[in-house]
Amino acid sequence: MPKLLLAAAQTRPVRASVSALPISRKMVRRFIAGPDAESALQVTKSLREQDLSVTLDVLGEDVTDRAQAAATAAAYRSLLVSLKEHGLADRAEVSVKLSALGQALGPDGYQIAMENAFSVAAAASEAGTTMTLDMEDHTTIDSTLGILAELRAQYPWVGAVLQAALYRTEGDCRDLATAGSRIRLVKGAYAEPASVAHPAKADVDAAYRRCMEILFSGEGHPMIATHDLALVAEACATANRLGRTRDSWELQMLYGIRTDEQLSLAKAGVDVRVYLPFGTDWYGYYIRRLAERPANMLFLLRHLNG
Ligand code: FDA
Repeated sequence: MPKLLLAAAQTRPVRASVSALPISRKMVRRFIAGPDAESALQVTKSLREQDLSVTLDVLGEDVTDRAQAAATAAAYRSLLVSLKEHGLADRAEVSVKLSALGQALGPDGYQIAMENAFSVAAAASEAGTTMTLDMEDHTTIDSTLGILAELRAQYPWVGAVLQAALYRTEGDCRDLATAGSRIRLVKGAYAEPASVAHPAKADVDAAYRRCMEILFSGEGHPMIATHDLALVAEACATANRLGRTRDSWELQMLYGIRTDEQLSLAKAGVDVRVYLPFGTDWYGYYIRRLAERPANMLFLLRHLNG
């Protein structure tokens, strides 16, 4: 079902009708802080007041020219300056999609994305915070992990996302569960072929458990990113069993999903980080959130027809 929904979302009529929704609409704002850095800073402040950490995403992906990629990097750098100025950088970092920094721009894409990513990492270092590389579809993984390795040689706190749905990920977890390594484990939001990813949800969940065990047993900093409360409970139990201190791992959820649980877990003493996107290029992100839960998509379709 999610695969079909993601495919339908790429058709012109659906994209045109959904993109025409103003960002001010409650159904879009549920998942997105707002159109600009100012709205994101305001939400970050209020989440921080509720004892939640934040990772900020400047929305955008698959840029088609160098200038756009450079503009995205500049937006991140300016955001990082603002986080420092507002005294938020101790609990707020940034999440970056390399496709937004130029990764897909032909044979030079790798180099362009890496240079842009280095400039964002330098700004994160200056602000006293960290940065994490989001993971996109499976064709980008080798390139993203390559850039991660180059960044980590200078900035060892740069983290990355690994997707449990992919067969390769247990191996990647083993390779990256090393001292200082920040790995955000997710199930995977992209429609992937059965040649590279588990087609059945139960198999993805089982793989997630195995990956979680590898990360917790290693020396890195696991970032367990899921709204699946059974997995959240297992993460807390595993952290306890292995004697992990509060600052040696974290739970992460997306803004607008399971908000009550985010707050109650933070109250219970767990470090909870909220992934907070903002910007005007929200279509791809928004559709993936809808596709994760068919009820969300049906709500939208009813609304568009109504
Ligand atoms: P699952 O899909 O099984 O959901 C468990 C429960 O959570 C559902 O039953 C529902 O109640 C609730 N829920 C989940 N999604 C919802 C939604 N959209 N709306 C309403 N309720 C919902 N993926 C990726 O491929 N690359 C990436 O870089 C990232 N980055 C990322 C960062 C963070 C912090 C998170 C939390 C997630 C990602 N993801 C991601 C997305 C991830 O791969 C996955 O698609 C979603 O987290 C949904 O999977 P769950 O683990 O929540 O489980």
